[in-house]
Amino acid sequence: MKIKNTIIDSQRIEQRVKELAAQISEDYKDIREPLIIVGILKGSFIFMADLCRYLTMPHVGDLMSVSSYGNASKRSGNVRIIMDARENQEGRDVLIVEDILDSGHTLDYLIKNFKSRYTKSVKTVVLARKPNELAFPVEIDYVGFDIPSVWVVGYGLDYAERYRTLPYIAELDPEER
Ligand code: PRP
Repeated sequence: MKIKNTIIDSQRIEQRVKELAAQISEDYKDIREPLIIVGILKGSFIFMADLCRYLTMPHVGDLMSVSSYGNASKRSGNVRIIMDARENQEGRDVLIVEDILDSGHTLDYLIKNFKSRYTKSVKTVVLARKPNELAFPVEIDYVGFDIPSVWVVGYGLDYAERYRTLPYIAELDPEER
């Protein structure tokens, strides 16, 4: 195994996901039309599934797949939509669900993209946030954990498509990955 150490164990994740869901449910409790929750594939699929099941207000799940071009060019502004969301977002409250915020580039693009669809509101929930020292200072409405700037895997996060289904978040050994 090339895992170095556990950063967040499964019990802490479960507890925090419940807390986030409780906060979101409270904030949207008076919503008139169901909240559209858009999970960004692939990384958010496990977080999205867990979060949705603890929400107590009306919501509709949706999925979208995007990809950025490599690490170096992530900062240059290239995000490609692989599969768009299916719900009509016009006039609706939308919550974007991401597993991780790194440079902020993906969420910066998505927030602008969703606002251009004449949404009523766009908010963001991110399970893990790395220190964001780069060019996209994105405002996150709900943050699960602030984590160190290391390569993390598990609970949806991968290294070359491996480790996504680990039930905890761990640091990958940079020597062995
Ligand atoms: C990850 C994550 C975000 C993005 C965050 O996706 O799910 O979408 O990177 O990085 P940023 O803040 O620097 O833009 P990734 O490109 O690894 O694809 P995946 O979700 O399919 O694994």
